[in-house]
Amino acid sequence: MLNGKNILIGITGGIAAYKICELIRMYKRNGANVRVVCTPNALNFVTKLTLQNLSQNEVGVDEFDIAQFKPEHISYADEADIMLIAPATANTIGKIANGICDNLLTSVACAFSKPIIIAPAMNCGMWNNNFVEENISKLQAKGIYILEPEEGFLACGYEGKGRLCDLNKIYEKTVEILSLQKNLSGKKIVITAGGTIEEIDSVRYISNYSSGKMGIALADTAYEQGADVILITSVDTQKPYGVIKIKSAEDLKNAVENEYDSADCIIMAAAVADYRAKNIADHKLKKDETSDSFTLELVKNPDILQELCKKRDKVLCGQNLSDRKNNKPLIVGFCAESENLIENAKSKIEKKGCDYLIANDISRKDIGFSSDYNEVTILDKTGSAKKLERAAKTKIARQIFREIYG
Ligand SMILES: Cc1cc2nc3c(=O)[nH]c(=O)nc-3n(C[C@H](O)[C@H](O)[C@H](O)COP(=O)(O)O)c2cc1C
Repeated sequence: MLNGKNILIGITGGIAAYKICELIRMYKRNGANVRVVCTPNALNFVTKLTLQNLSQNEVGVDEFDIAQFKPEHISYADEADIMLIAPATANTIGKIANGICDNLLTSVACAFSKPIIIAPAMNCGMWNNNFVEENISKLQAKGIYILEPEEGFLACGYEGKGRLCDLNKIYEKTVEILSLQKNLSGKKIVITAGGTIEEIDSVRYISNYSSGKMGIALADTAYEQGADVILITSVDTQKPYGVIKIKSAEDLKNAVENEYDSADCIIMAAAVADYRAKNIADHKLKKDETSDSFTLELVKNPDILQELCKKRDKVLCGQNLSDRKNNKPLIVGFCAESENLIENAKSKIEKKGCDYLIANDISRKDIGFSSDYNEVTILDKTGSAKKLERAAKTKIARQIFREIYG
């Protein structure tokens, strides 16, 4: 499965370093060429001789031990298809997150422009430390894959989260990343995610339970597959691609319209409020002691999906057939239904005019809002429907792109 792949493993000074010997064998057994770089502290836990024999390659430790005309950190970075840092100590995580390059491993990581997986392992107190938490978030925001440690009995005698994750998980993630195809490169994909926030006064708002997880999974997947991604969302998130933070349906509409002309595909996964307050008070509304009820007048929000489709169809109608190179932008909507899923979705796709409609059953507790899992049905313009069985939202996202782009 890994034939011809060059895997660079960075080992740091954690007690779990010995486990990486087995991982090297797993990669080698499956055809990969493995090279190892170690921090000097890692050699307190495993020997260079062992790593050299298992990887069948020289092991790099000293950045200034230069064998060729190219500095070692550049050669290592150029040769590998993927870099795995495991176990990653709190110390090395902190250095990489802050651009510190004071040994061969941290210098290679800084120069590395291909995918990096980091599998941290440490005492549970270290893992819960705020600085470590911030450093992990920084790395994730730069598109580095983090395989979180697992809970259990730790080598230091404590019980908690900190054990290096299962080696099979590291192996599978490596294979998964190496087999990702950049089949969305050259495409600009705009995705909306999360519930909108409609203000009532200076302290209150109307919103919904949408977590944004499905939209964010779609954006992450599109980015992994090489697309130029813009995520428009109410959710606070740091990503290696463009994120536009919005609150209300109106903000979302403006943001999507700004991206419309340059977009190849717009996926409307956000849960946009149907109504907003007619008047937004600029102060906190006082409780009326003389009445037991309060009336809030709401007005309809625009149907952004339908408006986008109308705009697109109008532009296409005005073009000669020969000018219509494609249906740009492709427009994909989401709908949340709690009953008669397919029937309602079929009438919605007709009414809205989008190319695809992804129908979610929100009556189920094991999928949908806030869950990491989903089960959806994809409908296209011709009325055909395809059900995607319950799976992690990242997997559903990949299947959705496969359906719409082949
Ligand atoms: C026996 C022992 C075990 C250690 N295990 C870990 C560990 O699992 N995770 C960690 O972050 N640090 C661990 N440390 C501390 C690191 O070795 C220390 O922070 C060191 O500076 C890391 O250097 P490096 O990141 O350059 O490899 C351990 C230290 C000792 C003495």
